[in-house]
Formats: sequence, structure tokens, C-alpha cells
Amino acid sequence: MNLAIIGATGLVGEEILKVLQEKKIKINELTLVASNKSIGKTVKFCNNNYKIISIEDALEKKLDLAIFSAGKDLSLKWAKKFANNEVTVIDNSSAWRMDKTKKLIVPEVNGNELTIDDKIIANPNCSTIQMLIALAPIHIRYGITRIIVSTYQSITGTGRIAVNQLNNEYNNIEGEMAYKYPIHQNAIPHCDEFEDNGYTKEEMKLINETHKILDPNISVTATAVRVPVIGGHSESINLTLEKSFQIDDIKKLLSESNGIKLEDDTKNFKYPMPIYAKGKDDVFVGRIRKDFSCENSLNLWVVSDNLRKGAATNAIQILELIKSKGFIG
Ligand SMILES: NC(=O)c1ccc[n+]([C@@H]2O[C@H](COP(=O)([O-])OP(=O)(O)OC[C@H]3O[C@@H](n4cnc5c(N)ncnc54)[C@H](OP(=O)(O)O)[C@@H]3O)[C@@H](O)[C@H]2O)c1
Repeated sequence: MNLAIIGATGLVGEEILKVLQEKKIKINELTLVASNKSIGKTVKFCNNNYKIISIEDALEKKLDLAIFSAGKDLSLKWAKKFANNEVTVIDNSSAWRMDKTKKLIVPEVNGNELTIDDKIIANPNCSTIQMLIALAPIHIRYGITRIIVSTYQSITGTGRIAVNQLNNEYNNIEGEMAYKYPIHQNAIPHCDEFEDNGYTKEEMKLINETHKILDPNISVTATAVRVPVIGGHSESINLTLEKSFQIDDIKKLLSESNGIKLEDDTKNFKYPMPIYAKGKDDVFVGRIRKDFSCENSLNLWVVSDNLRKGAATNAIQILELIKSKGFIG
């Protein structure tokens, strides 16, 4: 397989390289792309040095697959050009997620929808991926009618510039700001841009992508908050179900579902936290309890490393899936 990573020097790009190495994915030729400022720099992968090249030069190569992680504008401009050259594209940006002609894939949830004709495959937003990994099994068995989700999102979701901002604030250094406000010792109820309806784009992604992947009939409302955390995103989720349930059955169901690690033992203070999710591929679920204020309702706490399952790992799982189906070389 000849593979290109577009955005190889970014937080997600770096994580993709780590996951490829850990999973020992066989690569014939690896092409690494970043912006003009990085062209010519070298990146180490599996003890070999690779020179960063431009996207124009990458398009000239004979590729099987390109994973785009360099923002929406770049994907909108270049993904179709790669696809027209018979290169399958897995796109981590928001460029194609709501395009009716493109599939939005979480392998554990709807991987079976992929066909050989899908030449541009969209990776969902990080907050959506971890939420749907936890909720899909519950929806299949009990029918979710309503989701209320509040996120506590890691600064790594905003890319390297945000990590630099937090580090600068720790060290009292003035520098480039990813956010309008300090993030150190703060919680900012503003992820991505505001839309006219009062919600942010991040909140609308949770709503729209849930409808596209899981079920358009579920009522969803979301509040997304940025917190000074590095390890991953946390989500407080309240669900209303069609059918009645026993909490122990929900716990058993989740403990047996793909991609989930149940951490739910409050007597021993066991619950998911981003500091322990960092670098792991699982979605951790805990604090599962009945919502006594509303019939057929429950609360969950869901944590996952947004750079892993929320981006790199999900993309590599899509790669593995289409390879196993024989859709790419
Ligand atoms: N962070 C997350 O949790 C997460 C989760 C899901 C999806 N995503 C999406 O993944 C993408 C990357 O996110 P990130 O967090 O890795 O951002 P990042 O750390 O800011 O990295 C951006 C990458 O894109 C490259 N790039 C920027 N402009 C380019 C251009 N004109 N041509 C070629 N390469 C260019 C950068 O290269 P230089 O180093 O040369 O600037 C860098 O490699 C975004 O679309 C983001 O929305 C991120």
C-alpha cells in the first residue's frame, strides 16, 4: 500500500504515524505532506527518515490511499483531485461529513456501509465518535429518543497552537493565542465558531453527525466546553430511552461492546478520566446511573483520547476495514 499523510506534522498526523507503527501496518511507500513552512524537514517513522513534501508533489505520486488531517479548506481543495487519480481519501476534517454523497464512518457503528465506490470517506468529529461508540449499543437494544450532552474538551482538539497557548500560560510567556481567552485555570463554553442559532459549530456537529450516523429521529442537544486538559475529551451524557431498563443490564451491554472499556466502580473510586485515557484507543464509560427525575432515563460519563479514537485510530480502523474488504491495495 502506498500511503500519504496530509498534515503529517500536526497533532493528528503525528498520532496517525504512531498508530500505524503500533499496529504494524505494512506500507510500501510513505509520503508525508505539510505546509510550506515544513517542506524539506525530516520526520522519523519506523527508524527511517522521511522528507516532508508539498501536496502538489504528493498528487504526482502513485498512491493507494491518502489520509487528510490538515483542515477543511485543504480537504475541500484537494481531496477530489486525489480521488480522481484513483486514490481513496480518508478525511479527518469537517469538509465532507455532511455531504450526502459521502459516508461518515465509525467502524464499530456503521463500517458495514462502506463499498468499493467510496473514494472519499469522512471521519466524524472527535466528540461524536466517542459518544456514538458508547450510545450505539444502547440505541440498538433500547431505542434512544433523546440525548443531552455536555462536553469537557481537551485543548489538543484545537491543534498544536492550543497546546502552545496552554504551555505559554503555564510559563508566563506571551505568544500566539488559539482562544480569545486564557485557557489555563479556565473553562471556555465556546468550541469552534458560533452559528446564527446560538449553538457553536462543535455543538451542531454532535447533533448533525449523530443524526447521519445513528438515527435522524433522535432529539439531540449539546453544550461544548473547552477545558485546560491534554489527555482527551470527557462527556456528561443524559439519555431517554423508549424501553425500560435495568442499570446492570446497561453496564453488561457496554462491557461486552466493541471499543468500550467499562470503568464503573464508585465504591473504589473507579471512573474514567482523561489523564488515564491519553494514548489509548478505547472509549471509557462510567458513572452509569438512573436519572430519577425522568422516566426511562440515565446518565453516563464518557472519556476518550480525541487524538486517538477521535481521529487517528478511527481513520486507521477505516483503512484496515477497506483493506480487509479488498477495496485498496
Ligand atoms: N485535534 C483533534 O482532536 C482532531 C480530531 C478530529 C479531527 N481533527 C481534524 O484534523 C485536522 C488536523 O488537526 P490537528 O489537530 O492535527 O491540527 P494541527 O496540529 O494544527 O496540524 C495541522 C497540520 O496541517 C498541516 N497544514 C496546514 N496547512 C497546510 C497546507 N496548506 N498544506 C499542507 N499541510 C498543511 C500542518 O503543517 P505545518 O506543521 O507545516 O503547519 C500540520 O501538519 C483538522 O482538520 C482537524 O479539524 C482534529
